Amino acid sequence: MPSLAERIGQHLGADVVLSAAADMEPYLTDHRGLYHGRAAAVVLPRTVEQVSRLLAFCNAERIGVVPQGGNTGYCGGATPDASGRQVVLALARLNRIRSIDAANDALIAEAGAILAHVQRAAEAADRYFPLTLGSQGSCQIGGNLATNAGGMNVVRYGMMRDLVLGLEVVLADGRVWSSLGTLHKDNTGYDVKSLFLGSEGTLGVITAASLRLFAPIRATATAFIAVAGIAAAVALLRELQAASGGRVSTFELIPRIAVELTVRHIAGVTDPLPTPHGWYVLAELSSARADEALEAVLEQGLAGALERGLVLDAALARGERDRAALWRLREHIPEAQRRDGASLKHDISVPIASLAAFVERGAAWVRDHVPEGRLVAYGHLGDGNLHFNLNQAPGSDRAAFAARARQIERAIHDLVRDHGGSFSAEHGIGQLKVGELERYGSPVELELMHAIKRAFDPHGILNPGKVLRAAGEPRSA
Ligand code: MLT
Ligand code: ZN
Repeated sequence: MPSLAERIGQHLGADVVLSAAADMEPYLTDHRGLYHGRAAAVVLPRTVEQVSRLLAFCNAERIGVVPQGGNTGYCGGATPDASGRQVVLALARLNRIRSIDAANDALIAEAGAILAHVQRAAEAADRYFPLTLGSQGSCQIGGNLATNAGGMNVVRYGMMRDLVLGLEVVLADGRVWSSLGTLHKDNTGYDVKSLFLGSEGTLGVITAASLRLFAPIRATATAFIAVAGIAAAVALLRELQAASGGRVSTFELIPRIAVELTVRHIAGVTDPLPTPHGWYVLAELSSARADEALEAVLEQGLAGALERGLVLDAALARGERDRAALWRLREHIPEAQRRDGASLKHDISVPIASLAAFVERGAAWVRDHVPEGRLVAYGHLGDGNLHFNLNQAPGSDRAAFAARARQIERAIHDLVRDHGGSFSAEHGIGQLKVGELERYGSPVELELMHAIKRAFDPHGILNPGKVLRAAGEPRSA
């Protein structure tokens, strides 16, 4: 009797199937090393037709399929379970930019295209694709779509969902649904494409997307700003938005400890300011007009805020080198955190007007209840989204710290709920937060999600156990 991998090879061609343990290994562990799964095979199709044949086969045989992009996610959404019966479907070879239609501000990319390649393809056509993430050199568009990725430019351009004109998706039974087009308006009934965005491969496998392009950026002004606190940072954002006519494209909160960690662990990062402060903001204004005086607007805005005590100090980028150094500091915070030891991540959002109160209460709770950890709270202040992370304190025991993860998470997520927020702002649910969705999600919404799942994937073969508990899987405490 041929193995499952051999049977898939017979259907699709042996050259798209990996089954040796060493070959499969890189696909079986998530980026943070939280999950390690097993698989019957890893399949790397070259065509949409092959994806379609694979899903038709797995649907008929009731085999779970775990789609995987650049494997940079934080919630274990692309890692198979421990059964060894699932198939990993890696989209890396479906990586073409199929077309660029600058006249219609649209680009069609396949799921396996690396985000940075899409950005460059847009640039080559004198257009701009705004999604900007620390992992852009390795994450793939399919994963960005499937997780509705956010990142550093959301305050101006929205999340991935807002950058999509159409999709090509292979459904659980192998049918291919294509809405790839360049229409910027289309109100014909239910917005089916929207269901796939953020569904983490549980409703269909996205194989290509038509993406929205924008006018290229011709001018930027960037500053690293020491602020008097979170409330001051929120006030500063509103002032800069008003003064610049909505030109703020990045507004990232950075705590002192993140500066120290990046300076210590990341080559070439230096403290941009001469004296230490508790909180900073990396702010960038950008415009499609080369002659727009953004630096003057930023400088004047900061000078006024300095007089009123919102701002304590600031370093303005004088040229591309300075700017790149400031971005390097921000983008490497997760890596510096990783190198410093165990960390617990909480990807939360609250209404922006409640951010200061939330941080004050959350920080006090951490101080009082987690002596073995220290708060590293940073992120997308402009979106009300913080990575309210904790790192193990120097000298504390890694295992003992990690063992408290659930308890700490519960306290922080309860606090987030009390502030009208979300326990998953941009990283999704994956397998990590299935229980949190059950705890904090509205029962009616969960019922609707299960109904949608049954309609799209009646046999439950698509990324089983991610986002929603798989049928028959026991609820954990
Ligand atoms: C970021 O904004 O750098 C990330 O989303 C990562 C994180 O949670 O650490
Ligand atoms: Zn983030």
